[in-house]
Amino acid sequence: MKAVTWQGKRDVRVEEVPDPKIQEPTDAIIRITSSGLCGSDLHLYEVLTPFMTPGDILGHEPMGIVEEVGAEVTNLRPGDRVVVPFQISCGHCFMCSAGLQTQCETTQVTSEGMGAPLFGYTRLYGAVPGAQAEYLRVPQAQYGPMKIPEGPSDDRFLYLSDVLPTAWQAVAYADVPRGGTVAVLGLGPIGDMACRIARARGAERVFGVDLVTERLARARGRGVETFDLRSFDSEKELVAAIRDETDGRGPDAVIDAVGTEAHGSAAARMVQQAAAVMPRVLSGPIAERFSVDRLAALHTAIELVRRGGTISLSGVYGGMADPLPMLTLFDKQIQMRMGQANVRRWSDAIMPYLTDEDPLGVDEFATHHVPLSDAPHAYEMFQRKQDGAVKVVMRP
Ligand SMILES: NC(=O)c1ccc[n+]([C@@H]2O[C@H](COP(=O)([O-])OP(=O)(O)OC[C@H]3O[C@@H](n4cnc5c(N)ncnc54)[C@H](O)[C@@H]3O)[C@@H](O)[C@H]2O)c1
Ligand SMILES: [Zn+2]
Ligand SMILES: [Zn+2]
Repeated sequence: MKAVTWQGKRDVRVEEVPDPKIQEPTDAIIRITSSGLCGSDLHLYEVLTPFMTPGDILGHEPMGIVEEVGAEVTNLRPGDRVVVPFQISCGHCFMCSAGLQTQCETTQVTSEGMGAPLFGYTRLYGAVPGAQAEYLRVPQAQYGPMKIPEGPSDDRFLYLSDVLPTAWQAVAYADVPRGGTVAVLGLGPIGDMACRIARARGAERVFGVDLVTERLARARGRGVETFDLRSFDSEKELVAAIRDETDGRGPDAVIDAVGTEAHGSAAARMVQQAAAVMPRVLSGPIAERFSVDRLAALHTAIELVRRGGTISLSGVYGGMADPLPMLTLFDKQIQMRMGQANVRRWSDAIMPYLTDEDPLGVDEFATHHVPLSDAPHAYEMFQRKQDGAVKVVMRP
């Protein structure tokens, strides 16, 4: 089959690879019909390079048609239309029962000291072959894949794999009081969708911050009060402008939908780049022990949120030596909640929003649909935010 493979920093290629096969009785094989390109994939493209191996198949936002199931997968049969969560979890352990599927005790990547494995996401997350491919082996298929109705186009349901539960969890963890205010930093797919969900779930005012014209316009078109980072001389000015809108206090909650590749801090960028170009044997452990994130967005969140408010991180961070302003965090009594989204914890609550009325605008959410063969260009376009690219969906 054809698959999008990682070959090196900013180097992805479509290659011919062996078809996946059933290996465990709990596996299924899916023929992929749509596969999202995610901001998380851009970390692999750039800063998480030390944890990748050339040839790794990328992608973790799949949906498609069941081709084959293992003996213990009784809930699915060939021909079913399914969307697959980006993490692999069992559905019955202590963690899964507690709605913490990303911490699944059956599937945890214990060799790396990490939580549940993810499709197409570094050796830290199990080096599981990813979903930007014609076929995908889905472990724990007795639990993960969600059956979806025939009829609407793939885009109606595709985002259940990642964008929707991630944005939903971001809003749930932000704990915005009814009638309260929330600021969303970053208006990529995750931040954009978090704004939509926050509004749908009763936030009175939603402030959105980014530095890309089309992304700001897209959010503004859905009732978000937007702030263009480029029009402020400093983070302090941005914080002051949003505080002015919230009785001088700052919003009740701030969602960081930016993560480790934030624009803002040149020093941290140099350290990240140094780790990414080191020889592989060195860079893995070094990146693990001494890595620092670009913390511009997180620092803004800490300044911006009102005293006693909540910061909800969905942006991915990976640093082991990040300097944080503990005095401010402690003095402002800030609550911080974070993590990969627990997909199946939220999927049932999201489903009623995926109707013909389309309150979250999923049908029109993708800006680009491309064949798998265009993946190299799609990665570059999405990373550089060219051509109005916000959400790219590949159709193998
Ligand atoms: N927690 C999860 O389960 C989960 C799931 C999916 C994605 N993510 C993470 O969420 C983050 C966003 O994902 P995405 O797909 O929307 O990616 P994206 O890269 O398209 O979006 C990031 C946005 O942040 C903006 N930005 C950069 N620096 C900024 C700053 N200092 N202030 C405000 N905005 C800034 C960029 O212009 C961009 O629009 C990524 O870190 C991704 O890895 C997490
Ligand atoms: Zn993703
Ligand atoms: Zn489990």
